[in-house]
Amino acid sequence: MSDLMRATATACSNIAFIKYWGKQDFDSNIPLNDSISMCLSEAVTTTTVVWSPDLSQDEFYLDGERVLDDRSLRISRYLDRIRDQYYRMSARVASVNSFPAGTGIASSASAFAALSTAAIAAFGEDSPDLTEMSRWARRGSGSASRSIESGYVEWVGGHDDASSYCRQLCGPEHWDLRDIVVVLSTKPKAISSTEGHRIASVHPFMEARQAELPARLAALKGALVARDFVTFGEIVEHEAMEVQAIMMSGRPSALYMQPETIGLIHALRAFRESSGLPVYFTLDAGPNLHVLCEGRHAHRIEAWLKKLAPTADLLHNRPGPGTLLSDAHLI
Ligand code: PMV
Repeated sequence: MSDLMRATATACSNIAFIKYWGKQDFDSNIPLNDSISMCLSEAVTTTTVVWSPDLSQDEFYLDGERVLDDRSLRISRYLDRIRDQYYRMSARVASVNSFPAGTGIASSASAFAALSTAAIAAFGEDSPDLTEMSRWARRGSGSASRSIESGYVEWVGGHDDASSYCRQLCGPEHWDLRDIVVVLSTKPKAISSTEGHRIASVHPFMEARQAELPARLAALKGALVARDFVTFGEIVEHEAMEVQAIMMSGRPSALYMQPETIGLIHALRAFRESSGLPVYFTLDAGPNLHVLCEGRHAHRIEAWLKKLAPTADLLHNRPGPGTLLSDAHLI
């Protein structure tokens, strides 16, 4: 243990092209299926963790404000797992996000990737390798496991804690893809991902989805490696709509799309048809549309989006880095 047990990590969120929706195990976040994502360069969480024998309980600060609700409870429960394997003491945790939380830009992904990396590094011991770090991040929030490595990442779903981990498929330089997030709403979602996973896991459509996924995953990986954007986009768009269908038709129903989301989807499909430009979309558990294109078309597509949705913020992401330690401590 070092004298000052402090470390800071920065992590990007990620957008899944093949989604994680439904779990085999809710304690360790073992998913029903493998998933594939890209790290989002502009959706970043920075977290500093200071372990201290002088603290009587954990303290969590988000954007400079002390948090005392369920979010801080979730962090303490997660830190308990780390304490079980390392040392028993409380921590002061400070985080800042570069983007609005709870808006379909999975903030829990960047949050738990940064938290796990900073918390373990702060003990001053050799960090586990990236595969083991992806397991640590996954125990906090499933999608966080895909934010440890950079670029394009696959989560091998597995069947237990040891067999469920992430690996990089291609680095960020492999393909200049863009995810331009059209931020239509910053309201927190009515049904949390945790609840959504529970509903999805017993959904009658899930068996059919699981039967199709191995072929879909293989086809998506092929398109990614070959940088075949049209094949890639068609798979990703179909996948997004299938998962939304499961969300919408669950009990209870999670209708994350807003009228503006549907309006944008119709406009995007019409624009793709009339302009001949390859542009596709995906959605997460939220109303914001993730517009996907290649870098060479991004300028025209962003200009079109600005005209179409002049009041919406656009978050223009490139393939992002993995989770990194930093000396720019927040506390
Ligand atoms: O990591 P969670 O429990 O917040 O689940 C996120 C699931 C989606 O973002 C909707 C899909 C995915 O694969 O990231």
